[in-house]
Amino acid sequence: MIAAVPKEILPLETRVSATPPTVKELTKAGITVQVEKDAGLKSYISDSDYKEAGAQIIESAAALYTNADIILKVQTPDIEEISQFKPGTVSISFLQTTRATNLVIAMAAIPVTGFSMHLIPRTTLAQKMDALSSQANIAGYKAVLVAAGRIGKYMPLLMTAAGTIRPSKVLVLGAGVAGLQAIATAKRLGAQVEVFDVRPIVKEQVESLGAKFIEVAADTKEGVGEGGYAKETSEDYKRKQQELIHDHISKADVVITTALIPGRPAPLLIPKTMVQDMRPGSVIMDLAAENGGNCELTSKDEVVEFNQVIIDGTSNIPATMPVHASALYAKNVAAFLLYTLKDGELNLDFEDEIISGALFTHQGEITHQPTEELINQSKDS
Ligand code: NAI
Repeated sequence: MIAAVPKEILPLETRVSATPPTVKELTKAGITVQVEKDAGLKSYISDSDYKEAGAQIIESAAALYTNADIILKVQTPDIEEISQFKPGTVSISFLQTTRATNLVIAMAAIPVTGFSMHLIPRTTLAQKMDALSSQANIAGYKAVLVAAGRIGKYMPLLMTAAGTIRPSKVLVLGAGVAGLQAIATAKRLGAQVEVFDVRPIVKEQVESLGAKFIEVAADTKEGVGEGGYAKETSEDYKRKQQELIHDHISKADVVITTALIPGRPAPLLIPKTMVQDMRPGSVIMDLAAENGGNCELTSKDEVVEFNQVIIDGTSNIPATMPVHASALYAKNVAAFLLYTLKDGELNLDFEDEIISGALFTHQGEITHQPTEELINQSKDS
């Protein structure tokens, strides 16, 4: 069985879906790993590093796709790439199936067996395959460092002969994986950190990191949906939330926003009117930029300035740290692939929670229900 590792085609993508350690793991499990020439260069992995680990180097993507049984990617394959896949190929990538339904339809038409790293269930057993978490961790960490580099201020409290420097104030909106890492990083830099999240359950985690949790006075279950994830809140809650954020944002030097609701556009937490009241020289790092952004002024993959406030909408922050982003993503993908194998062959047990959870298309059927519903709705309209 051949697993292919293509070179990512998006210009800003620096990550790669396998690294020498994961090539070794997969080879040991009986898989032949073929890597496209220069696939690892932007993660500082050379073709000879891959060869030493046991991979074969293939000159072109077209040749790679001709041989492949399994295609491992970071970004979702585009229509042109999918058109080169053989029927029955297994594709594993970071595809947001409810957002890129055209790609799901294209894969089903071939038919490709499609798995998305986005859909891996967040269970204890699947933790080592949880690419959302491994990459969100990087985003939270790096966002704080980028912001610290932009604010023209120290982060920590400093007592100097020339006077005392007050610590910078960091406001984190959304305390999921990225938010918690942002809090920990900002605390390590010595900032004063305040945090808001619709899920009151995170209060304890936030406080254990030494940050202050700010709360909306409301029904405590208001923002908590299925599986403990966030859900849409009522209009009354949203109004109270806006007042609270407005009050705290006007004193912040750095705002890190990470608020997401699974399968929905990112909630709008910072309207333009709020940015107007922010301190000159402050920075918003909008980690929800990929899903529309938490700030009204966010422009995906752009850094904009409004009223002397910088709003950074870089959507792929993990790609700015390719060494560790690739190392962790490749580990997640290899763990998932190894989980699907039995005696060196694919053994797709669709009763299994992880395999069926991550699957979105097989033998021409679209198996992920919300994606199928969306596709049917668009056919009807
Ligand atoms: P996410 O990326 O979907 O959302 C980020 C955060 O934004 C969440 O904490 C959410 O409550 C918050 N949020 C949503 N709407 C908001 C609003 N209007 N205002 C403020 N905050 C808002 O979440 P992520 O990072 O993927 O993980 C969420 C939770 O999932 C984690 O805290 C953890 O409890 C759980 N999880 C469990 C894992 C496991 O058991 N293996 C692995 C990873 C996460």
